[in-house]
Amino acid sequence: MKNIQMDLSRQNVRYAVKIGGGIVKTCLRELLSGYAQKTVFVITNTTIVDLYPDFVREWLPDHVEVRTLSLPDGEEKKNLAQVSVIYDFLIEHKANRKSVIIALGGGVVGDIAGFAASTFMRGVACVQVPTTLLSQVDSGIGGKTGINHGSGKNLIGTFKQPLQTIIDVDFLGTLPEREFIAGYAELVKHGFIRDAYLFQILRQKKIDTIKNDRELLIEAVFRSCEVKARVVEADEHESNQRAILNFGHTLGHFLEAYTGYQRLLHGEAVIIGMDFAAWWSFRHEYLEESEYQTIHDHLKGLGVSFPLPRRIEADFRSLIEYDKKYDDSGFRFVGLTAIGQARVFEGITTTALWEAVDRYIRENRLLQYID
Ligand SMILES: NC(=O)c1ccc[n+]([C@@H]2O[C@H](COP(=O)([O-])OP(=O)(O)OC[C@H]3O[C@@H](n4cnc5c(N)ncnc54)[C@H](O)[C@@H]3O)[C@@H](O)[C@H]2O)c1
Repeated sequence: MKNIQMDLSRQNVRYAVKIGGGIVKTCLRELLSGYAQKTVFVITNTTIVDLYPDFVREWLPDHVEVRTLSLPDGEEKKNLAQVSVIYDFLIEHKANRKSVIIALGGGVVGDIAGFAASTFMRGVACVQVPTTLLSQVDSGIGGKTGINHGSGKNLIGTFKQPLQTIIDVDFLGTLPEREFIAGYAELVKHGFIRDAYLFQILRQKKIDTIKNDRELLIEAVFRSCEVKARVVEADEHESNQRAILNFGHTLGHFLEAYTGYQRLLHGEAVIIGMDFAAWWSFRHEYLEESEYQTIHDHLKGLGVSFPLPRRIEADFRSLIEYDKKYDDSGFRFVGLTAIGQARVFEGITTTALWEAVDRYIRENRLLQYID
């Protein structure tokens, strides 16, 4: 089992991120062994309950009583109404300030359960057990919780570090391939921005090989989590490093918004966004062409591309400026100077960005014009 220690001194918080295969039972039993409270609260969703019906009975220690809340599945359920359902459930079962919540599921469950845990009685402990690749390398670490509002995604949220994060790659065996690829986007992103060796061990492999090779997955997830953990820690000291995690997200967010969050998964949009950001870096002579080509070949191999109508400029200009990386001086755009080295560029204007996007599409890379 691999272990990452998160050390957030300003928040006076330290916690472990455990990573391995088949580890969830051992970790939970160890974590809860000295736990005096009789009841733990598992928050999950209907998909996970169907796939892992034994979780409660077999994976939690015998001395604890378990109350399970199974929420409906789906991003559209990451809202205040469901938070209220969680509060009602905790109150009904007499949760108190010493209670422990276990968030078992993907990023949606992790975000909503984390949010409820951080606000219920001004904060109770929450163990994150992420079950998608995206949540294992991204949302399960860093302490951001959040829910959606009718007018925008993740508009309401808190920072609440978990008691522990338990990452068991065996959960990924049941993940649909499309979700695996979407999570892989965030995993390989950490290689592009900070860990050339991580990309090195992934680039020779086909996605199916990676999905089915348990040891490789553990190593890759571990290295990816290390990058996120160190960036989050450094950012606590206001180095603004967290911005580099947005590599691929400027164009990615536009594509998601343009398609109404329906046609592309977040990670699929980020795959296209990363290819664009690497291409932009090469076109501006920050990145060697051969390195861009290596990145492009790898991302193209994931099988994600998207057609756009030629008259897209007006939509691009209006939607892109809602991006949180935009202010009056322009965009903060994350590019690469080498594989494994990200750099933040400030003050990129909407016009400059549009001209680059238009040229990128004309070159028929991962976006194409359809008419
Ligand atoms: N807090 C953060 O820092 C952070 C970072 C990135 C993303 N997010 C949030 O995470 C969410 C996306 O997370 P996600 O991609 O995990 O989506 P998700 O939680 O919706 O999971 C995707 C689908 O996979 C299913 N699933 C989960 N685990 C499974 C398994 N082991 N086998 C089979 N199916 C499984 C889920 O039920 C769901 O249908 C978004 O709401 C996003 O805003 C948060």
